[in-house]
Amino acid sequence: MTTPQVKIAPSILTADWGHLADQIREAEAGGADYMHLDVMDGTFVPNITFGPLVIKAVDQMTDLPLDVHLMVAEPSRYLENFRDAGADILTVHAEACTHLHSTVQQITRLGCRAGVAINPATSIDALREIAPFVDMVLIMSVNPGFGGQRFIETATSKLRRMRYMLDELNPTCDLQVDGGVGPANIGDVVDSGANVIVAGSAVYNDRASIAENIAALRAGYANVQA
Ligand code: DX5
Ligand code: ZN
Repeated sequence: MTTPQVKIAPSILTADWGHLADQIREAEAGGADYMHLDVMDGTFVPNITFGPLVIKAVDQMTDLPLDVHLMVAEPSRYLENFRDAGADILTVHAEACTHLHSTVQQITRLGCRAGVAINPATSIDALREIAPFVDMVLIMSVNPGFGGQRFIETATSKLRRMRYMLDELNPTCDLQVDGGVGPANIGDVVDSGANVIVAGSAVYNDRASIAENIAALRAGYANVQA
């Protein structure tokens, strides 16, 4: 198994939105690799968050790459808007795209890195045909829609099986995990092959500073890579 460098992607869903710019700068100063931005449309998922306007504002707050997770029905309608707003990675859900291959092509043509996500109940088999064409696969370890949910334990074996498939079909592809990841289980997900780790409530909480929380995540997988 290839173990590329692990990247931490804080999700701002549980950030203090009254001080969003400070919260994002603190994550950058604390060693975050990406900012993970959760776009929800109230149709594909039972929650509504924000769109390109907020992405554009965040782009002005940080130099970090923007990892935009589109929990949106038929996202092909909006990809150009998100690219123009500053998205570097655009991840769409396999379940939300009627023509997934065409949507992935569209993302690549726009000059963004293309990610495809699957929900907890979707088999990795749904990704076999698209895997050679993507830059990142996202395995959801909670049902998308809200931060602060409990990690679904079967996601670790799913990550392992997905990494195995990618090693065959697209060895340089990133493998991202999103939902319920913290210092206690980050070692397991990294050991299972995830190399881009989304963390919302484990980074933005009132228990410690953002930098301390990112450091705790790094410490959580340190012995896995050794
Ligand atoms: C859930 C979102 C996640 C969420 C993660 O639908 O996609 O990115 O913000 O939050 P935590 O890490 O708290 O589960
Ligand atoms: Zn997300």
